[in-house]
Amino acid sequence: MRVIQSLRRLQVWRCRMGQQNPRIGFVPTMGALHEGHLSLMRRARKECDLVVVSIFVNPLQFGPAEDLGRYPRTFQADRKACEQAGVDLIFFPQVKDLYPSTFQTSVVVKQLTQRWEGEIRPTHFQGVTTVVTKLLNLVGPHRAYFGQKDYQQYIVIKQLVEDLSLPVTIIRCPTVREADGLAMSSRNRYLGATERELATVLYRALSAGKKAITDGVRSGKKIQQNMMRLCKKHPELSIDYFTVCHPLTLEPLTRVDREAVLLGALRIGKVRLIDNIFAFLGSA
Ligand code: PAF
Repeated sequence: MRVIQSLRRLQVWRCRMGQQNPRIGFVPTMGALHEGHLSLMRRARKECDLVVVSIFVNPLQFGPAEDLGRYPRTFQADRKACEQAGVDLIFFPQVKDLYPSTFQTSVVVKQLTQRWEGEIRPTHFQGVTTVVTKLLNLVGPHRAYFGQKDYQQYIVIKQLVEDLSLPVTIIRCPTVREADGLAMSSRNRYLGATERELATVLYRALSAGKKAITDGVRSGKKIQQNMMRLCKKHPELSIDYFTVCHPLTLEPLTRVDREAVLLGALRIGKVRLIDNIFAFLGSA
């Protein structure tokens, strides 16, 4: 497995690979790798000839009051995990190389970034779409793999790729969960023992919403209330949002009469958690 830090070296590598024409699978990450990331790498390994992982804590996608400074940086452990997952190349650029002092371009996906995460983290998606565009340009993959846990991010990136006619297929992979349902996330390591126990409420709330739908509840508002009821029993939690949405436009549904995605976000102390699940009418 190779580790490349320099943009120039990566470009030389990509140019050389171009002549051999291998199918390249790409997993962009911010490191602090967990089973969720590894599942993306394994899927890429199965479907592609070469697997590239990027590890880059992207400052542009953190707001001024967010956790950029304390975001876990665990390169040695990440490197080992990538090697074990059969990754061929880690791209591990430095901030000054991806964003030199002269940097002044942003990529903005307008509508899909207005609601939910975009409302609470106003500069977040612009940071994500800018870095993902740069990474896709540099790595030149055929397929790029994203976890469903960040569902809005996945939808935004699909739109970006379509709008900019980027020659890459975006693949959504299932959320990997702990045994008690908590979606795996690099930020789970911030949770203390009591907070960790409480964190399962997010998945339980989303599951309650899904159950309401399969039980025949059709009102978006009632389904939302169903999800929030569980959380409101815990005053230590603060809810950012729970919603039932159209799975492609992410617009809230007043009536659920087709497939829907249930999105939720809450805070436990200083830790912010997001998750989502799909609900199909008539499905258990
Ligand atoms: O999902 C993430 O880890 C990040 O948002 C991504 C896609 C690597 C961009 O920095």
